[in-house]
Amino acid sequence: MSAKQRAAEAAIRHVKSGMTVGLGTGSTAKLFIAALGAEMAAGRITDIRGVATSVRSDEQARALGITVIDLADAGHCDVTVDGADEVDPHLNLIKGLGGALLREKIIAENTKKMVVVVDDSKIVPHLGAKSPVPVEVVEFSHEISRRYLESLGCTVTMRMDDHGNPYITDNGNRIYDCRFDRIIDPIALDHAIKAKAGIVETGLFVGIASVIVVAGESGVREMVRDQ
Ligand code: A5P
Repeated sequence: MSAKQRAAEAAIRHVKSGMTVGLGTGSTAKLFIAALGAEMAAGRITDIRGVATSVRSDEQARALGITVIDLADAGHCDVTVDGADEVDPHLNLIKGLGGALLREKIIAENTKKMVVVVDDSKIVPHLGAKSPVPVEVVEFSHEISRRYLESLGCTVTMRMDDHGNPYITDNGNRIYDCRFDRIIDPIALDHAIKAKAGIVETGLFVGIASVIVVAGESGVREMVRDQ
């Protein structure tokens, strides 16, 4: 069993019958949604409403028989289980290499407990160690946004899809992947990036995650945010 699979299955313990569950996006979140569907099919977890962070997670959940509702109807999620691209020692994250960062952040901010499922390759000493910061921008002014992002000192690459066309998010926007040498202050960087109109959201998730479920060679452990 892969580390991602072990993390996804270990996260099931954070889900109880009757909960509204935010459903993440990406390969690890996909394994979690499958595990949740299996628990429900076996009758061990019942009465779940899912809130999906992407069209593909919505479709996967519905195919497994999980009821999916809008965040507005849910009000909030009791728990959201999602992957990440990087996790620092303060439980801050980079997310969005899967392209769903905006809905992921909206749902995570409206969740009592955000549980992040990763293999141990995602644990880094500081954000930016391996991953660029994905930034979602509106189509209308994407070239202006690109110049602004470059002025912040990063190397900027437009996200492309499998056909070589610009990647378009579920919200009709583009993504620029911004590679910074080292991110010292992720809150300040998040604010600086979002200082211009047309820049919708960043993949910096600061102070949002409650629990990180990390799977590696030696088993599964949890990093928990101090209350
Ligand atoms: C989706 O937009 C992302 O935030 C993913 O959660 C993140 O990229 C992790 O994906 P994997 O689980 O596929 O590594």
